[in-house]
Amino acid sequence: MDIAVIGTGYVGLVTGAVFAELGNHVICVDKMPERIAMLKDLKMPFFEPGLREMVERNMEDGRLSFTTDTGEAVKASEIIFIAVGTPPKENGETDLGQVEAAAAEIGKNYNNYKIIVNKSTVPVGTGDLVREIIVRHKPPELDIHVVSNPEFLSEGQAVADALNPDRIVIGAPNQQVAMKLIELYSILEKPMIITSVRSAEMIKYASNAFLATKVSFINSVANLCEKVGADVDEVRRGMGLDDRIGSRFLRAGVGYGGSCFPKDTESLLNVSKAFGAEMQILEGTIAVNRTQPVLFVDKAESVLGTLDGKLIGVLGLSFKPNTDDIREASALHIIALLQERGARVQVYDPMAMDNVRRSGLQASFCEDEYDAAAGADAVMVLTEWNRFRQLNFSRLKRVMAGAHLFDGRNIYDPAVVRRYGLSYHGVGRPSVFADETH
Ligand code: UDX
Repeated sequence: MDIAVIGTGYVGLVTGAVFAELGNHVICVDKMPERIAMLKDLKMPFFEPGLREMVERNMEDGRLSFTTDTGEAVKASEIIFIAVGTPPKENGETDLGQVEAAAAEIGKNYNNYKIIVNKSTVPVGTGDLVREIIVRHKPPELDIHVVSNPEFLSEGQAVADALNPDRIVIGAPNQQVAMKLIELYSILEKPMIITSVRSAEMIKYASNAFLATKVSFINSVANLCEKVGADVDEVRRGMGLDDRIGSRFLRAGVGYGGSCFPKDTESLLNVSKAFGAEMQILEGTIAVNRTQPVLFVDKAESVLGTLDGKLIGVLGLSFKPNTDDIREASALHIIALLQERGARVQVYDPMAMDNVRRSGLQASFCEDEYDAAAGADAVMVLTEWNRFRQLNFSRLKRVMAGAHLFDGRNIYDPAVVRRYGLSYHGVGRPSVFADETH
């Protein structure tokens, strides 16, 4: 099939590459000439395992191309995916400016029957808005249908997720339109669910908000575990073995970040208020997530006596491992709090250092984890990169001035840490003090 994908952000670029990989002809469009030039040069705008290779392969085979010319891409395609950004506005509403601009361009270049597919995460009812805008601009005699086909890919494993999704949601106005999308996706041999456009839009928001709520729920349980002397890691394992609950997204820590959970929970809450069906549960989800970094810093302050003048080594800056994405990363909130309370900070992340430097953060940027720990009163692990799981504790202890390890993702065994003369402080687990620090 001939496909256009408007927007070369995370969702757009991965979607375009994967559809090309599956044998379609795909044109990816972006308004930013620098970005298109970079992509033609095989430079990816973000790191995602396997993406560059897939783009290269499909460009060489002539199935994938890049352009800034939306008109050209629209005219050449029978299915057009809208995958542009939908950032939040100051007041928590979703900014649909880029979606509206894409719809207007599609309308102006509408030369034959096409199916327009919305992949961006958008408030319920946006499908109708896109349709209205296109109808306003297109020749009246040509038919048009708008589909909602939300994307569930997870950063760091986006290519694998796109090729191997749990389910494919197709929100279509009628069966005939749905069939076209079924045809496109049938090669993946995955479960597909056909719904109304509005239900599909809702499925995306509800899924992300549910997962975020699961994380905030376990974080609340963790905070209680600390008070009552239980270990949330044991609680999580006990809960997760119940099939009805499931073990995933039950890891307590310093809170969720990224480009989806924070934005989508706010946006769904906003929509629910606007329609008079306020989802109070989301107020709680969001509030717990805002508090989680504060509680972690409070704990460090109480253990160290004060943060004023202390040197803290921070390991991990991205919002989760295997990505250089630092949007809404809990690590950055924690660093800001540490600095507010007078601490100096040395940081290291395997992949996100450049993005953090560009963000303007004032800190010492280090070569590796041991460099970041050098002379530190305490070390905080805030992203569970695999290489941090393999920390050499005796080397860590040797280079540090103090002996406190704060595990913001509960990745270490407290007893093992203690064996190396370090005190262990996790989230929702009892602290274990090394003799000399207690
Ligand atoms: C998420 C959804 O998983 C994906 O389906 C959707 O399309 C986009 O949003 P992503 O933002 O890439 O994907 O990351 P995800 O792996 O879901 O993690 C989100 C945040 O939650 C991270 O900060 C992570 O550290 C945190 N998290 C996740 C926890 O704190 N505990 C968990 O158990 C799981």
